[in-house]
Amino acid sequence: MAQYTRVSGIVGLITLQNPPVNALSAAVRQGIVDTVKTALSDPQVKSVVICGQNGIFCGGADIKEFGEKMFGPPLIPMMHAIEAADKPVVAAIEGSALGGGLELALGCHYRIAHSKARLGLPEVTLGLLPAAGGSQRLPRLIGVPAALDLITTGRHVTAAEALQLGIVDQVTDHNTVDAAVKFALTVAGQSLDARRISTRPCPQPSDLDALFEEAMQKVRRSARGAIAPVACVQAVRAAATLPYALGLEREKELMATLFTSGQARALQYIFFAQRAVGRWRMPSGASWDTSKPRPINKAAVIGLGTMGQGITVALTQIGLSVVAIETQEKQLMKAKQAISGMLERGAKRRGVAPPLDRVSYSQNIQAVADVDLVIEAVFEDMGLKMEVFQQLSAVCKPGTLLCTNTSALDMDQLASETPNPELVVGMHFFSPAHVMKLLEVVYGPRSSPQAVATAMQLGKKMGKASVAVGNCTGFVGNRMLKLYTEQAFFLLEEGATPELVDEALEEFGFPMGVFRMSDLAGLDVGWRIRKSAGLEEPIEASGQSVRIRNGCRYSPIADLICEQGRFGQKTGSGWYQYDAPGGRVARSDPWLHSFLAKYRARHGLVARGIDHQEVLERCLYAMINEGFRILEDGIAAGPEDIDVIYVFGYGWPRHRGGPMFYASMVGLAKVLERLEHYHHAHPDVPSLQPCSLLKRLVASGSPPVHRWREVIKKLHSQL
Ligand code: NAI
Repeated sequence: MAQYTRVSGIVGLITLQNPPVNALSAAVRQGIVDTVKTALSDPQVKSVVICGQNGIFCGGADIKEFGEKMFGPPLIPMMHAIEAADKPVVAAIEGSALGGGLELALGCHYRIAHSKARLGLPEVTLGLLPAAGGSQRLPRLIGVPAALDLITTGRHVTAAEALQLGIVDQVTDHNTVDAAVKFALTVAGQSLDARRISTRPCPQPSDLDALFEEAMQKVRRSARGAIAPVACVQAVRAAATLPYALGLEREKELMATLFTSGQARALQYIFFAQRAVGRWRMPSGASWDTSKPRPINKAAVIGLGTMGQGITVALTQIGLSVVAIETQEKQLMKAKQAISGMLERGAKRRGVAPPLDRVSYSQNIQAVADVDLVIEAVFEDMGLKMEVFQQLSAVCKPGTLLCTNTSALDMDQLASETPNPELVVGMHFFSPAHVMKLLEVVYGPRSSPQAVATAMQLGKKMGKASVAVGNCTGFVGNRMLKLYTEQAFFLLEEGATPELVDEALEEFGFPMGVFRMSDLAGLDVGWRIRKSAGLEEPIEASGQSVRIRNGCRYSPIADLICEQGRFGQKTGSGWYQYDAPGGRVARSDPWLHSFLAKYRARHGLVARGIDHQEVLERCLYAMINEGFRILEDGIAAGPEDIDVIYVFGYGWPRHRGGPMFYASMVGLAKVLERLEHYHHAHPDVPSLQPCSLLKRLVASGSPPVHRWREVIKKLHSQL
């Protein structure tokens, strides 16, 4: 809806009213059309101001209306009516003007923004483009290079940057509506010819072709198969090369292709999934809306290695006081320097003073006596972690929450080491912890809802997609990753190369294939875990047994590579070779190829031709099958939880919506058929055996992903 009032005698004030962000729903569009008409036909009114209620101009299109039949007045004619008005129309931008909200402002003749406002065209992040004339007006207003940047990345700009770019005409620190009304009074009666953006020519850069070629290459490189950024470049090109009306036609055509693409559906799904995971629920029935987090003012981090340093930075940056504990003096010094550096760089980016004095360092665990929450990040060693948890229980004040950053160990076993297991949860960060946007919050059977609520709230404050999951080896992310990696090793045994596997996965959209990624992370990490799990037994000289562990197929290839001291980038070789230890550029390694040939010969394996399709099906479907098992076991509450974990923590291409959404797009019957096929060919690989939830979903007609929870519920009630 939109409310109309007259202020200062001659200014018509239109206020958009649709909480929480004044989205352009059908009712709001109708309200704008009606109130603009009223203002323009009122002879007393000489100029018009459009603003939004509750300090927000407009958050854009109403995403809930996507995919539904369009009703109500369309946006483009509405904006043309505003632009064509013979009275000046001023947008008063408070809070945010995003997507359709900014397009509405661009249809106005003037824009006044509050200094704290943010503006942007984030449509690309939902697989779309600004299709209410935004892709045609913005380049005409601020030039092609700046418009390309904003439209292809969807990034938001501050009011100060918007002023510098020429998106807004004035920025105020005071009441924006008052400033806009004052401004509207001064421009009443002035000519609007130069103010109608659609009638302006688009500024022509000197080498248009080269500019667009470069822009296209850039988005193709970073978008990895996403079509919306490419369409955005094409739309801006239309603005630069065609008259406005034809450019608008092109914008419409491109939008029609995007709107019906699976990618837009995937991106919109993940947008809603990110919100859905905040509404967590434990198997006990406790949930986000019934569990109150406890206040956390002071926290401690134990162990200042790679993870502990990042976690300290993340906690400090949200305003907590942090006690950072490290037993090794040399490491303590190193960590202090690294943490201070990260805090200083972060503060510089945000233009604030670095909060160095909020971190205190100690080698003595007694220093954590008065904290509200502890995050343990010592080596991945159960014995050591148990000892630390016993010490914490003795030292911490009653009620302190004890969290572990373990990547795979049993957090419930750790909880058993404490007199209050209800205060223990996992907070599984991803490296680098102050940058990566995912947090798995792991609850055991005895974790209290309050402990989960507190960890979830802390994750949210740190700006992370936080997902509550049950306790099992590897939780959700690493449990699925293990099977993906395992298939990659099997493919090497059967004739693939690391290059082939990586190419297939990178073409699919992962920023790095499994082998390049493992060279970056360090091969020794997984080797240590396999050794502690007893999988890496002494290799016999020959025979099948080295390729069988616990009665199942096992590939010792990665262990053999580690035995050669090849730990990846850090040692200068792994699955690839690098110029020197620490090198970044992966090159094909003849040694590795000859090692693979010898390995196959030793084990009587005959290399066969493997194509990209098989790589994708084997690696991804094995992982997806495990995702179904995770749902079956109740470790994740729904497919959205798994998908958010994969998109935010494991580089799964966002435009493919996460592994479980992808399975629904491929078709569950097809996934089932391919798994059955591969399991038949590899009966000693249990992870390829389709799980019962997948079969049940196919039997019930492959319902869409948002209806899987019903089938899961039925399955659980029958167990
Ligand atoms: P790290 O080896 O870099 O650091 C561990 C630190 O803990 C060392 O500085 C060590 O001196 C210190 N330490 C050992 N015993 C201690 C004690 N009793 N009190 C205080 N400090 C002690 O290890 P990283 O990579 O930081 O991993 C830590 C934990 O985080 C592990 O459980 C790991 O599985 C988990 N994790 C690691 C990720 C990674 O990418 N590195 C990702 C997610 C979780």
